Amino acid sequence: MAVYLVTGAAGFIGSWLTQALVERGDTVRALDNFSTGKRENLAPLIGKFGPKQIELLEVDLRDEQAVAKACEGVEIIFHEGALPSVPLSVKDPRTSHTANINGTFNLLEGARHAKVKRVVYAASSSAYGNKNPLPQKESMLPGPLSPYAVQKLVGELYLRSYWEVYGLETVALRYFNIFGPRQAPDSPYSGVMAKFASMMLAGEQPTIHGDGEQSRDFTYIENVVQANLKAAAAPAEKVAGRMFNCACGKPYTLNETYKLMAEIIGYKNPPQYGPPREGDIKHSYADISAAREALGYDPKVDFLEGLRRTVAWYGEQYEASSWSAVRTNT
Ligand code: UD1
Repeated sequence: MAVYLVTGAAGFIGSWLTQALVERGDTVRALDNFSTGKRENLAPLIGKFGPKQIELLEVDLRDEQAVAKACEGVEIIFHEGALPSVPLSVKDPRTSHTANINGTFNLLEGARHAKVKRVVYAASSSAYGNKNPLPQKESMLPGPLSPYAVQKLVGELYLRSYWEVYGLETVALRYFNIFGPRQAPDSPYSGVMAKFASMMLAGEQPTIHGDGEQSRDFTYIENVVQANLKAAAAPAEKVAGRMFNCACGKPYTLNETYKLMAEIIGYKNPPQYGPPREGDIKHSYADISAAREALGYDPKVDFLEGLRRTVAWYGEQYEASSWSAVRTNT
């Protein structure tokens, strides 16, 4: 079985990918610096599959030598490790620049020297910006607004260059607002679904930034795992050096999302509205025909089903836990 390196393996997306790989019998080197990743996302897997099948590496992507060593003996890399927040990048661009751009560069250098076969990269739909017509297609010119969007786009360009110049097979997946169980709800930079679900369950009133008419092509985690596994397995002549949208192909506004989630939870309060967030794009809506054609990608879990599963998971966490807030007003 192949040896895979997953960066950001203790994070939301990385841990689901790691799980899918070990469950089908592959060996994973799981790299994380635990800045936002959580040990408890990997501990049950290590307990079940053992340290031979999941080798945990506590490594920072900014550490060039440690990253180079982590790439040795690896066949395929899934590069999920990043500081994945638009507002964090607006507040502290240097930190997210070094993690996202230097980290990706170190990894590509490590991959090149270790003769890794393929790198599959977590790119971002934020690269499209606001200027393009909808739905967004891979052939459109990028228009990144936030430092984060620029950083993720630079990673894509580097991947493309490493394919063209060094023959390292690369595939970039532009993620469109991934959500689902394990997405951390507890930071000011958490994704909107995790925040809304945890706050509504705790009886706290979520805030919508702006008028709530911005839209997102929210994509459930299981679809993203599928896209990654297919991107790793697809023939090079179809995918190497390319970038694909990874989404469901159906946008929802934040107002709609809020309403649907509140209905499932039984939460009665309206949202509070705050000022729009700097660097926010207005609409995000993908054409996924290229991924369907080249990867055989076929998102199986639609938005509503994903929302139900996500809310159920946060509900279990809430019941079991430690969340300090008390549920009121519901
Ligand atoms: C998200 C991802 C980013 C990814 C991008 C690609 C997260 C944290 N960020 O960015 O990594 O590359 O999608 O599509 O998952 N909002 C509120 N109230 C809140 C929080 C957010 O109204 O409490 C709004 C935001 O202003 C934004 C929308 O919800 O309009 C989505 O925000 P967020 O979940 O942070 O994701 P993106 O910035 O779209």
